[in-house]
Amino acid sequence: MQGSQVLLFVPNGHLLTSLLTMKYLQIQRVITAPQQVHITQGDYDGKAVIISWVTTSESGPSKVQYGTSEEKYDFSAEGTMTNYTFYKYKSGYIHHCLVDGLEYDTKYYYKIGTGDSSRKFWFQTPPKIDPDAAYKFGIIGDLGQTYNSLSTLQHYMQTGGQTVLFVGDLSYADRYEYNDVGIRWDSWGRFIEQSAAYQPWIWSAGNHEIEYMPNMGEVLPFKSYLHRFATPHSASKSSNPLWYSVRRASAHIIVLSSYSPYVKYTPQWRWLREELKRVDREKTPWLIVLMHAPIYSSNVAHYMEGESMRAVFESWFVHFKVDIIFAGHVHAYERSYRISNIHYNVSSGDRYPVADKSAPVYITVGDGGNQEGLAGRFYDPQPEYSAFREASYGHSTLEIKNRTHAFYHWNRNDDGKKVPTDSVVFHNQYWASNLRRRRLKKNNSRTATGLAATSDSSL
Ligand SMILES: [Fe+2]
Repeated sequence: MQGSQVLLFVPNGHLLTSLLTMKYLQIQRVITAPQQVHITQGDYDGKAVIISWVTTSESGPSKVQYGTSEEKYDFSAEGTMTNYTFYKYKSGYIHHCLVDGLEYDTKYYYKIGTGDSSRKFWFQTPPKIDPDAAYKFGIIGDLGQTYNSLSTLQHYMQTGGQTVLFVGDLSYADRYEYNDVGIRWDSWGRFIEQSAAYQPWIWSAGNHEIEYMPNMGEVLPFKSYLHRFATPHSASKSSNPLWYSVRRASAHIIVLSSYSPYVKYTPQWRWLREELKRVDREKTPWLIVLMHAPIYSSNVAHYMEGESMRAVFESWFVHFKVDIIFAGHVHAYERSYRISNIHYNVSSGDRYPVADKSAPVYITVGDGGNQEGLAGRFYDPQPEYSAFREASYGHSTLEIKNRTHAFYHWNRNDDGKKVPTDSVVFHNQYWASNLRRRRLKKNNSRTATGLAATSDSSL
């Protein structure tokens, strides 16, 4: 208490000392309060979460207290703390705490920080892995931190989505210079907390996470991102947090890194080859892939930037009947029909996509609302593979009903409230395309309700 010594010279200093000491402690508590709280899935099957937060000034504990009823935190888990510098910016203390061994389909309350500075949140674990488990995902990309970003996030929060699939380009902090880069990561962390502290965001990295900035002496790719956002990559036998997979309810979600090596024999290529074999559509019928640079996009912006990944992975996506591939990067919305171009292998074959029932639907949701604005120019005429395209801010939701059907909506922010603009019913690529499978499992299948009422097309 260095300040208290000054007060010894003041009349009635004892009282003032006490008051100032209390004030000092209050300020200290405020400074060390956890902020930027966010959670993500912590294991392969959804029985764990990683809870992350930042404290400034003082580290404070990396402990999470949690339980299944409010104000009763029967359990605790101990996490780890890290920090980093970026140019002359010094990050706060970044805490990551794995909370595992959770029950499925249960609401957990959790508390972080100590004393008056502790903060309380909650989350709901998913239902157990089951082919007919219903679950609602939100899909957000290229969010940034503008008025439009806030509009997108608040529209999403009205949907009842249970987990966000984030398709890269988080804060756009790299649009700033010097210490402002780190400061913008902090402000973005505070911005998303309203959702990300209460439900998992499944992270994938975009080009704005690379932050290769030699003019500031910063040359370690993904430095801020990797310090701040943990992923459960080891649980899916991945050697790198930038690519991994999780299983949640009835979905198997594969996260790829558009900006890490992926050509033949690289770690990402080898990992994906093995991970696709591990997918069990009898348990998780819905196979979803996230990446940042879209493979099919008819927008002028970033045109064909996903071509090299298409050349490497498209035949696998078709062979393993991936249901949907979500991407961002292009600041607009676009959905494809089921098409493939697997005969065209850079130097031979037909150089145009053709209808292919085994192919995924490609969806670009890079319209989260960052400061770079919309990508308003599409190539005309609209290519045959493009089913719907529009340059407006928004987000998507994927509402899985059972093993055969999922409702999909793209929601445009400008409509003032949540309005589904592009609506599709997806038929599962494994179950819905095989009548024999469906008959065998008929008794196990639940009925998808209201299919006809809410769809205007189906795939
Ligand atoms: Fe991007």
